[in-house]
Amino acid sequence: MITRRALLKSALIGSGSASLFPRTLLAAAASPTHLMQAFIQGLPKAELHLHIEGTLEPDMKFRMAKRNGLRLPYRSVEEMRASYQRIHDLQSFLEVYYEGTAVLKTEQDFYELTLAYLKKAASQNILYVEMFFDPQQHMRNGIAFETVIKGLTRGQKDGQKLWGIDSQLIMCFLRELTADSAMQTLEAALPYKEYLVGVGLDSDEKDNPPNKFSAVFKRAREEGLRVTVHCDLNQKDIHEHIRQAVEQLQVDRIDHGGNVIDSPELIKLVKDNGLYLTVCPGSSGTSIQDGKPVDVVRTMLNAGLNVTLNSDDPAYMSGNYLNETFINAQKRSQLSAVELVSLARNAFEASWISDHQKARYLTKLDTYANQWLPKMA
Ligand code: ADE
Ligand code: ZN
Repeated sequence: MITRRALLKSALIGSGSASLFPRTLLAAAASPTHLMQAFIQGLPKAELHLHIEGTLEPDMKFRMAKRNGLRLPYRSVEEMRASYQRIHDLQSFLEVYYEGTAVLKTEQDFYELTLAYLKKAASQNILYVEMFFDPQQHMRNGIAFETVIKGLTRGQKDGQKLWGIDSQLIMCFLRELTADSAMQTLEAALPYKEYLVGVGLDSDEKDNPPNKFSAVFKRAREEGLRVTVHCDLNQKDIHEHIRQAVEQLQVDRIDHGGNVIDSPELIKLVKDNGLYLTVCPGSSGTSIQDGKPVDVVRTMLNAGLNVTLNSDDPAYMSGNYLNETFINAQKRSQLSAVELVSLARNAFEASWISDHQKARYLTKLDTYANQWLPKMA
């Protein structure tokens, strides 16, 4: 028989991936909270909404700035972190986020960024990641597309070699830039199409509806790329943006999408199209209805929507990577162990991978769930 203690031990010490917890903590891990944390740590997971530039931690920013001869407007990591407190909405977040990307100059920078993230992800038992990147931001910083893609893909290759973690790239267009600029970026990317699984749409949503990018997304789909669109929470015209993303851009997935729960018609539209939502509770977990806060994850689950949990921009969100995201969401949305398994399952189901790869991950998840769920009841 597998004991609770043995389960804790296998999750905390890890099965092949780096341990996050010293063995001395094991003795203290007998409380329900610690058991839940150990369960989440060991749960095989996929991450589908992660901006690789959003994993640029302050210490790495300082190191790269020094190496690239750039001066940052902060004297220390602490001062930089404190500056993140000015983030209060999407626009103020984007200012801080783009300021950070200025230190990424060379192929080696993109390589190290990717490798550091994949190491962290593997340590959290993430088996598979789909990572967004924002080439237009780097190109306006004077970096060639080739430099970016070479660094990212070298990081992916080494991440897989070192820790067995699989990953794919989703190229995002910045929605405040023109549709022409997006099309030119797509053209620049096509010689590297083999390295991309899809395209997305992110950045400033205000007055930048999905429709603006109809032709680019049509072209991307014709090129065999999957498509997804950010529908950030509580944005101007958000319900119309969700509708356009589904009906006009014919998305394969929706990023965030928390305001779907405001409208029975949108719930139906999303369900009828079999769409999964990559919700990031750290940044889009609370919608406002009639002036009252509504928990997005709980409401989506109750409505029968296909939700996945994701971390978005962890370096800017109190260092909350996927484990922390699951742990926080479990408390906040009162998620049972069975629901956590089904959220993890949804992410593998929603992944843009072959049926064979999907089945391999789902077998791992089922094995884990069969071991743990009886103990978690
Ligand atoms: N760029 C990076 N993270 C983003 C987010 N969560 N929403 C929109 N654009 C982004
Ligand atoms: Zn995002």
